[in-house]
Amino acid sequence: MAKETLSITDNRTGKSYEIPIQDGCVKTADLRQIKANEQDFGLMGYDPAFLNTANCKSAITFIDGDKGILEYRGYPIEQLAEKSNFLEVAYLIMNGELPTKKEAEDFTHVVTHHTYVHENVKSFMDGFRYDAHPMSMLASTVAALSAFYPEAKNIKDPESRRIQMIRMIAKMPTIAAFSFRHAMGLPYVYPDNEYSYVGNFLAMIRKIGTSGYKVNPVLEKALDTLFILHADHEQNCSTTATRIVGSSQVDPFSAVTAGITALYGPLHGGANEAVLRMLRGIGHISKVPDFIKEVKGGQGETKLMGFGHRVYKSYDPRAKLIKRVADQVFEQTGLNPKLDIALELERIALEDEYFVSRKLYPNVDFYSGLIYQAMGYPSDYFTVLFALGRLPGWIAQWNEMLIDPEQKISRPLQTYVGEGLRDFVPISDR
Ligand code: ACO
Repeated sequence: MAKETLSITDNRTGKSYEIPIQDGCVKTADLRQIKANEQDFGLMGYDPAFLNTANCKSAITFIDGDKGILEYRGYPIEQLAEKSNFLEVAYLIMNGELPTKKEAEDFTHVVTHHTYVHENVKSFMDGFRYDAHPMSMLASTVAALSAFYPEAKNIKDPESRRIQMIRMIAKMPTIAAFSFRHAMGLPYVYPDNEYSYVGNFLAMIRKIGTSGYKVNPVLEKALDTLFILHADHEQNCSTTATRIVGSSQVDPFSAVTAGITALYGPLHGGANEAVLRMLRGIGHISKVPDFIKEVKGGQGETKLMGFGHRVYKSYDPRAKLIKRVADQVFEQTGLNPKLDIALELERIALEDEYFVSRKLYPNVDFYSGLIYQAMGYPSDYFTVLFALGRLPGWIAQWNEMLIDPEQKISRPLQTYVGEGLRDFVPISDR
């Protein structure tokens, strides 16, 4: 049988090394023995942006980017989106198995009964200006939860970790809804245990006056499905941020805040907002060819937002499922007027050599913004909805990292390319 090793010859010294291969990887720490001379630090891997570096072993999400496959704990995303619900998927992602009926009931009960936030959280959120971006409000308020639950520092206690994870799943929709109401100048609506997880969120967003709020079941199911599609995506930027910050053994509220702020960026979760800005900028279907020309001629300056992905080099499976959700939502809300521009962009891009040769396909953000807009959310709120969906992934990955005996505090190396040693020059002589 072929040996699971890699032979390396260092041409600087003529020495040869045999490095073990495990799970398709070599450990870059094994390269350290390769030295040009005794004083040499040893060979490192250089990989800005982690293009070809695994930083953990994970049993949560499997992606085959070339084939367009996405699975949570081995279950295909298509089946989960069609047959499951968000809380069940959150349980699966966090615990590794689908819940039994009793486990699902208990989980739903405990989440439902942790949705309230301390009244001071409300006052804290009131402190933001009327035009605060809801992602800034969400990130700051989730960070503030660590001050409300100091025992969350107890990250070595599995029961404490479990409670903090439940708290986050339960309270994030409340905080997210408060940030929405704050921007609208509307009073905050308290959680109502009579609703489902997503129904309660919709009620906290929409309820006006004292009469009961009737949840539209199609929009409830659509949002639930969107949350499922976003629930985890292995080592993306925000999950990596959560893991890296969590590796310092800080409390989970602080670690997840890192995930939220990473998601805020326009190259990550902020892309759904950027798609809408782009569609607004294009303005009319007749301007689509000019815009495509600008993207192709712009040397990366202008991007077709909602296209391209670090791992999917064929169609993003979530984008396919989202198109179906879009049809169901538009049937309720009427067509989004920007849909024709989006469809034309997609049609041209899927045929155009520039996009085809670079394997640029619509990603999850291309259609999600159109759906959120049709549901009545302002564009700066889209990433908040993404964050609500991604939360189970962040906390499950955080938990997995903490119980992995191979993990330590994350601390990448650098290769220093700055000035050599020199003497300080007093300001009068500079
Ligand atoms: N529009 C036009 N050209 C693009 C796009 C795009 N959306 N994405 C990549 N390219 C081009 C690059 O300019 C580059 O061209 P070159 O080879 O001529 O220099 C080539 O395609 C490869 O792109 P990279 O930037 O190297 O790809 P990378 O894997 O680093 O980036 C990313 C992935 C960030 C998602 C990128 O495709 C992008 O910026 N897309 C738009 C933003 C977006 O939709 N983000 C959401 C991602 S999904 C998510 O976070 C949930």
